[in-house]
Amino acid sequence: MLHTVFRWRQHRQRRTSLPPGPRPLFVLGNIFQVPDPRNWMACQILAKAFGTSFTRPIVYYELFGKPAILISSHEVATELLEHHGDNYADRSNNTVMGGELVGWDRSVGLQAVGPRHTRYRKLLNTMLNPTEVRKLQPLQERCAARLLLRLLKDPEHWYMHMRPSISEALVHICYSQDFPLEEFPYIAMAERAWWIFNNVATANSFAVDYLPILKHLPEWFPSAGFKRQALLWRGELDELGYGSFKIVKEHVRKGIAKHSYVSSLIKARSPLSQDDEDAICWTAIGFFTGGVDTTAAAVTTFIMIMSRYPDVQCRAYDEIRDAIGTDRLPTLDDRPRLPYVTACMLEMFRMFPIVPLGVSKRASNNDWYDGHFIPAEVLLILGHRAMSRDPNIYEDEDTFKPERFLACHPSCNADKPGFRSTRVFGHGRRICPGRHLGELMVFIQIATIVAAFCISAPRNSDGKNTVDYKFDFVDGLIVFPKPFECAITPRSKNLAVLLEHSDV
Ligand code: HEM
Repeated sequence: MLHTVFRWRQHRQRRTSLPPGPRPLFVLGNIFQVPDPRNWMACQILAKAFGTSFTRPIVYYELFGKPAILISSHEVATELLEHHGDNYADRSNNTVMGGELVGWDRSVGLQAVGPRHTRYRKLLNTMLNPTEVRKLQPLQERCAARLLLRLLKDPEHWYMHMRPSISEALVHICYSQDFPLEEFPYIAMAERAWWIFNNVATANSFAVDYLPILKHLPEWFPSAGFKRQALLWRGELDELGYGSFKIVKEHVRKGIAKHSYVSSLIKARSPLSQDDEDAICWTAIGFFTGGVDTTAAAVTTFIMIMSRYPDVQCRAYDEIRDAIGTDRLPTLDDRPRLPYVTACMLEMFRMFPIVPLGVSKRASNNDWYDGHFIPAEVLLILGHRAMSRDPNIYEDEDTFKPERFLACHPSCNADKPGFRSTRVFGHGRRICPGRHLGELMVFIQIATIVAAFCISAPRNSDGKNTVDYKFDFVDGLIVFPKPFECAITPRSKNLAVLLEHSDV
């Protein structure tokens, strides 16, 4: 009896100590107040409405009895994900559709936390640690030069050129196919696999994510279209993972494999068990799902910013011209001499985080934070965009102001916690393992683009801009600017010659 009373009181105390949020309806929860989780802007509005963003930065809500928490403060994210990191590193069951049905739960990004995940991260780190990434410098510079060449040849379709050179670089790192890679069949498949990932990897995007019982519907059932779709996507994913692996394995057997992530692991671990093969396949896929669109989205966002802020572009170009001249393109070795270009990149990551709601995590156990009860199994959604526009950390937070990242500038609040946060790459145990490579790839691409091209909004005959200065993004886990018009004009007639010399 005493035990029952105790349990009832404990339950009541926990229930009344949940973080603030909209009142849930019976069974349905907050289905009518909570926006589509892929719509990050709407999530930010929710945070403001119920969590008053910066004063009570946690909002609690439920969907069909499944609890979720939206965090919009750097302080809370650091406390939970870094100081209590072990409790908030899981992703199991976050997406039934993407994880279990399509099969992404075998990949690093959606895998449950545990020894297998730790092993996969260690494998990735053999290629993605800062020392190895530095060795990839020539490849990254070549990848940037190939993008410039595409822009030079076909500036009108610039938007289409953002991803291929990054895919090529990552295919090269993973599987070591020689440039040009058009004939490597897995590039197109990797692109497709990513597209699937972006559609299914956001928690609660499909009805089956919050009503897992639906996964038991047979494929032929009239409303089970998602199951038929999942089967098709799973087939494509398996072909990508194991198909590319088999090609490299065969090259290793014949003794013709060049150095790559996959070939070096095959050689180091042969004879391979099935577990080893799975580990190599699925970590290699992590390069594409993690690396291609994030990097391409960052460079596309940068082009959008340059077309909207000509003064910033002029200053970045002047810095490059003064530091290295005009008879060569910048390299990664030039980065220390280009603080303003670096600041432009950091400011872009701040104002337009590429993964604005992070990749959701799940609490493994019950926890308490600042008097709030956080139940086990709760889904954590990270409001990165709200965090990076926190007026307590960033002065004039809605203005694109790269100089705030220059140590000598008065608006540089470097001593404020969170100011130089790497939150664009996530937090805690699941922080992006490709962050060193990703940041260098973005830097070299934006530095060479500014060195080589003038980017401007198209103008009419009166010299006025013909597009409106709106920042518009496609919803999804990784957000891309919506296609927009802009003119990309070479700064010098010698650009083609310069590119020839950069061994494209
Ligand atoms: C500008 C470039 C990039 C950005 C903005 C970015 C961002 C992110 C973010 C926000 C996460 C989720 C972290 C979390 O849950 O806290 C993540 C995870 C991940 N990223 Fe990146 N990333 C980038 C480049 C790359 C590259 C180049 C690779 C691989 C070569 C990569 C591989 C991964 C993988 C495998 C994960 C899953 C990690 C896990 O769940 O344990 N990323 N990334």
